[in-house]
Amino acid sequence: MHWLLPTIVGTALTGTALSQTALPFPSSCSNVASARYPYTVDSAWQITKIASGLRQPRTIIFDPLGNMLVLQAMSGVSVHTFGSDGCINSTQTIIQNAGLNHGLSLTPDGKTLYVSSVTQVWAYSYDAATRQTSNQKTIITGMSPGGHSTRTVAVSPKNPNIILVSTGSNSNWDYASGNPSTGRACVKTFDITKAPADGYNYNTQGTMLAYGVRNEVALAFDPNGHAWGVENSGDDFRRTVNGQSTDVHIDNPAEELNYFGDPESPRTPNWYGYPTCFTVWEPSLFRDTTSLKTGSQFVVTPNATFNDASCNGISNPPRLSFPAHIAPIGSVFDKNGTNLYVTFHGSWNRQPASGYLLAEVPFTKTAEGLYDPVAPPDSKTGYKTILSAQNPGSCNAAACWRPAGVSWDNAGQKLFVSSDNQADGEIFVMQKK
Ligand SMILES: *[C@@H]1O[C@H](CO)[C@@H](O)[C@H](O)[C@H]1NC(C)=O
Ligand SMILES: *[C@@H]1O[C@H](CO)[C@@H](O)[C@H](O)[C@H]1NC(C)=O
Ligand SMILES: *[C@@H]1O[C@H](CO)[C@@H](O)[C@H](O)[C@H]1NC(C)=O
Repeated sequence: MHWLLPTIVGTALTGTALSQTALPFPSSCSNVASARYPYTVDSAWQITKIASGLRQPRTIIFDPLGNMLVLQAMSGVSVHTFGSDGCINSTQTIIQNAGLNHGLSLTPDGKTLYVSSVTQVWAYSYDAATRQTSNQKTIITGMSPGGHSTRTVAVSPKNPNIILVSTGSNSNWDYASGNPSTGRACVKTFDITKAPADGYNYNTQGTMLAYGVRNEVALAFDPNGHAWGVENSGDDFRRTVNGQSTDVHIDNPAEELNYFGDPESPRTPNWYGYPTCFTVWEPSLFRDTTSLKTGSQFVVTPNATFNDASCNGISNPPRLSFPAHIAPIGSVFDKNGTNLYVTFHGSWNRQPASGYLLAEVPFTKTAEGLYDPVAPPDSKTGYKTILSAQNPGSCNAAACWRPAGVSWDNAGQKLFVSSDNQADGEIFVMQKK
């Protein structure tokens, strides 16, 4: 149901907050610097920059009144109201904490806000009408401080007492993380109603939703409330067979779109392969075999007891693959589950560079009522680029547009996407023409 009437909320703080969803699409916003880096946009979409000068905006969400909340890494959380022109009309910091670096999620009732640092998750009471937080509580402690540092937090829309929290591996090859008790390279769920007074210990408590996921930064829920993750896979890969080693890294392993299912009923098995079973993007680079295709599982060093085929049945392969190194870090479904939108932050382990784009992944509903990508698992064309840095092949982290946060407004009409380039943290609004 679309919200057609503007919601007017009086507050003592900054005057009037207009529900963003009833507002026009702004063709430009005065006092907002022009885009810091050139980009190209799909001809079916319009785009306008609405914010500049943020500190690494990593995650964008909306409260029930249509105000936009942004996690700015190494700074905190800001809230932005919109004016009648559809541009941002006020900005205030609601949490100041230089330790925050990625995770931000709000319960559907808009009353409980979660944020994360490398090692902890906190909850706050949030009031959308006054746009203020109070009552900080520690929910999770003890997450591994090493290696991949973001800890995505996502409230389950099906049961908002459950939160999902992901932790990456502590290095490219975190062999110990194959054991789920390390609490690394995994996504766990926690029931907030049962949280101990001093918080859960991430590694020893909670429920394992998925392990063997190297760095599952992007989490999203389809309209059934089933969870999906987009995974950053490994770097500098070589394939070694009978002592012969070949560099396959330029187009392998694939980044992965994984299906986790109902957050309260983990799949069996719930191991997704890391650090043993990986996914092929470009099969032609595997000179020792012709039996691999895009989406196949492989091991880097097959041996007498464990080869590529050994992954079948024990490791969940991704449902869809993306090119190597393009670095998915944000994802969101549209309202009716027709598409998943994924931000790809851009590669460092590939020349020419790749990624630096926002992709649309078409989904369909199966006869069983499940949401599923349109493309088959061996497809290389299961997504479409709708926004991209202008010359991604020559990009690097310092010199390009770097898509990070992505979120629909409450009506599902406008898509907001951030770039967390340190030279200028920007937010853009997009809409299909
Ligand atoms: C922005 O907010 C101020 C004060 O709340 C209000 O007077 C002004 O009309 C708003 N601007 C727009 C464009 O809505
Ligand atoms: C064979 O490969 C598997 C999977 O990579 C590994 O766990 C095992 O240690 C290897 N065995 C030998 C004898 O190297
Ligand atoms: C689903 O939502 C999108 C975006 O709002 C819209 O373009 C599309 O027509 C909708 N599809 C269906 C089947 O309702």
